[in-house]
Amino acid sequence: MSNTRFLTGITPSGTPHLGNYAGMMRPAIDASRAKNVENFYFLADYHALIKCQDPERIQRSTIEIAASWLAAGLDPEHVTFYRQSDIPEIPELTWFLTCVTGKGLLNRAHAYKASVDKNHAAGVDADDGVTAGLFMYPVLMGADILAFNAHKVPVGRDQVQHLEMARDMASSFNHIYGGEYFALPEAVVEESVATLPGLDGRKMSKSYNNTIPLFAPREQLKKLINSITTDSRAPGEAKETEGSALFQIYQAFASAEETEALRQQYAAGIAWGDAKQMLFERIDREIAPMRERYEYLIAHPAELEAILQAGAVKARKLATPLLAELRSAVGLRNLAATVKKAAKAGKAALPQFKQYRESDGQFYFKLVAADGKLLLQSLGFAAPKEAGQSIAQLQREGAQALNALQSRLQIVDGVETNQVLQALEQLREAAEQ
Ligand code: TRP
Repeated sequence: MSNTRFLTGITPSGTPHLGNYAGMMRPAIDASRAKNVENFYFLADYHALIKCQDPERIQRSTIEIAASWLAAGLDPEHVTFYRQSDIPEIPELTWFLTCVTGKGLLNRAHAYKASVDKNHAAGVDADDGVTAGLFMYPVLMGADILAFNAHKVPVGRDQVQHLEMARDMASSFNHIYGGEYFALPEAVVEESVATLPGLDGRKMSKSYNNTIPLFAPREQLKKLINSITTDSRAPGEAKETEGSALFQIYQAFASAEETEALRQQYAAGIAWGDAKQMLFERIDREIAPMRERYEYLIAHPAELEAILQAGAVKARKLATPLLAELRSAVGLRNLAATVKKAAKAGKAALPQFKQYRESDGQFYFKLVAADGKLLLQSLGFAAPKEAGQSIAQLQREGAQALNALQSRLQIVDGVETNQVLQALEQLREAAEQ
């Protein structure tokens, strides 16, 4: 049995924070070590262009996100780690999919609809400020997935609709071009991932400006942790773990025993300053070795570039042959090769008469369609010559002969007379050429 192929896209926008690490990167990296799975991780930099038109920021984010994943333990020898824009098959497939995707399907995409609704509320034109890039986003994402025939795609809830659309695109293409070109990918939604609270106790998120960058330098990490909101209970007063951002963040990094120990210290009235020191030390213990690697990679972007290039070579081993097959499927072909192939196919695609002798000593023939289906069966003739003459008559006269020879022939059950006539017509045409 072949491995299950997982594929995950990471849009390089912004700097990863502890929430991204605990909620997404750490579980994904753990999962990548499982047996019997193949993992594709890529930097979705074409996607980043939809939201960001600042070239320096695009480059900076790409470096930071690539370095973060590698520093956090993603092993590029074991997984396929690449950059979307290094795979020319992705934009090519995007166009093939664009041409089999209903515009109406894309009209219903949540991200696009949200923009339209916002414009509506503001009383401006529905498509005001909406780029075709935003509108086409689900097709690009479909191509990301289908270019590698991924089976499983771990995503957040907000991305489930895009997976449904990718399945639609895959089945439209399969249907229109008559083949199993694409496997239908499935979303994997991890319900139980930790969402970390941020400095102010709300969910840690760029949009709340309450994040702790994953690879903040040690001093900055300490300062940020010291700024986590707590209540005003004095040292010696018992503290609540419930609703304590500090406690929740600690729990995401600590073992069960460590967490239990902090719980007891809360009850015993630990000073907030001491609890913050514990949190800082616990996080720093996990992050420090990664931070070192991160800083090294940031200082050596050529190494990142080489890792991503090697990943692209690995990824294209799948995408290049698939796209070659798809190009041919849609009719973008080497013209010389096409003519030869068509001529051969034309020959093979003819129905056939087959003559044979049965154990009863009589001579028979049958008519078989191009696809091998039995259409017509003769009764026995005493001599091969008689059988041959009947065949010749059928080929010459078609319907008339079918009528005349009725008593010697049987149309196979479930076959229409018309199918037989068409087959005879095909044979006559081929004979005339
Ligand atoms: N759109 C995804 C996000 O914003 C990122 C992404 C792009 C992706 N292409 C993908 C995720 C393909 C999974 C598969 O999170």
